[in-house]
Amino acid sequence: MRFHPIHDFVYKNGELYCESVKVSTIADQAGSPVYIYSYKTIVEHFRKIKQAFKAVDPIICFAMKANSNLAVLKALVDEGSGFDIVSGGELKKARLVKADMQRVVFASVGKTEVEIQEAIKAGILLFNVESKPELEHINRIAGRLRKTVQVALRINPDIDSPTHEKINTGSLKKKFGIDLKTARDIFVAQGTYRNLRINGVHIHIGSQITKAEPFIAAIKKALLFIDDLESSGVKVEYFDIGGGLGIIYQDETPQTAREFASKVLPLLKGRKFKLLMEPGRFIVGNAGIFITRKLYMKDNGVKKFMIVDAGMNDLVRPSMYGAYHEIVPLKKTTSGSVLCDVVGPICESGDVFAHDRNIANIKDGEYLALLSAGAYGYVMSSNYNVRPRVAEVMVKGHKWAVVQKREDFKDLIRGASIPGFLR
Ligand code: LLP
Repeated sequence: MRFHPIHDFVYKNGELYCESVKVSTIADQAGSPVYIYSYKTIVEHFRKIKQAFKAVDPIICFAMKANSNLAVLKALVDEGSGFDIVSGGELKKARLVKADMQRVVFASVGKTEVEIQEAIKAGILLFNVESKPELEHINRIAGRLRKTVQVALRINPDIDSPTHEKINTGSLKKKFGIDLKTARDIFVAQGTYRNLRINGVHIHIGSQITKAEPFIAAIKKALLFIDDLESSGVKVEYFDIGGGLGIIYQDETPQTAREFASKVLPLLKGRKFKLLMEPGRFIVGNAGIFITRKLYMKDNGVKKFMIVDAGMNDLVRPSMYGAYHEIVPLKKTTSGSVLCDVVGPICESGDVFAHDRNIANIKDGEYLALLSAGAYGYVMSSNYNVRPRVAEVMVKGHKWAVVQKREDFKDLIRGASIPGFLR
């Protein structure tokens, strides 16, 4: 069986460990399914980016959408991370962990009045704005609050990045960003937005991009755009290059942070703006695993199915994007492997974690780990099929704690009521 030892998840005497804790101990005590995060990996990944870009001391805004567990956020705040947020809920989480608001940027193609108001009051660094109507909206609300608000325009560099269709955002066929001509007109005529300082340029071309080329092409395009703006007298104080750095799920060979920096930094020589970055997956993707328990095996004469206690509602990436997650046993077995589909209990044929894969031939009731599940795992989970959301655990050295309690039935029906007219 192949196993890429991801950072702080390794076998010792045939048992999978997260840092110094045996993973099966956590599963036995916290229950299954469960997400487990390594504090050490999270912090190390953050430091890798920080170190690689040290020369320009960027503001690193962890993309909270990848993992918004409060313990994860707190660990990152303590490292000096800021956040890329996309909702009022994420803003509230940033405040809960006492993030430095001057390191918080707010993206998303649709921001509500209340969200904008709360973010202005909180004093975030920048709004990453994705359309002219949104800009007008923010200008009006800022005026009402008597505040001047800093804005970066998310430009759409119209670049196709080689990644999954659903997470490719850099082309004009997608809803994201503002086309260059409109963006230029806005920058030049920014006097009309009396309550805004439109002084930043933002790009984000997609996610899970393993090579430097698309980033470099987009950055070069953005820099030409900035040159043009500056020659028209516009002062660009912030350049936000977004997130999107790909990681290893299977056999990808992504660039390292240092390789990425060695290509980006020369392009920024002599520039006066502050660099911002919004990595999500790079920091948490391989810092988390997802544990599920084998219920039993089903053989219909054509195929074998390993049925597990987790479903697509708990980890949707395989069914949503056809994403690959390595699957390994928590305890190595001497019984070889079995060719099967690994499936959940949900009433959809898409509820599959692996197709036709050789999986360790573990006994019923034993555990499997789906690797690289720290990004876009728990945050995308749902209550579909009236299933409670699972627990999350953080490990630090030999310590571990449940950092998000498993939901129970009460959580599932909270706020639900049967109206009088049905009685
Ligand atoms: N900045 C912006 C504006 C974004 O939209 C995103 C991700 C990021 C930063 C962080 O990208 P990262 O460094 O994590 O690639 N659910 C999908 C991924 C969706 C990405 C959405 N935007 C998945 O599971 O693959």
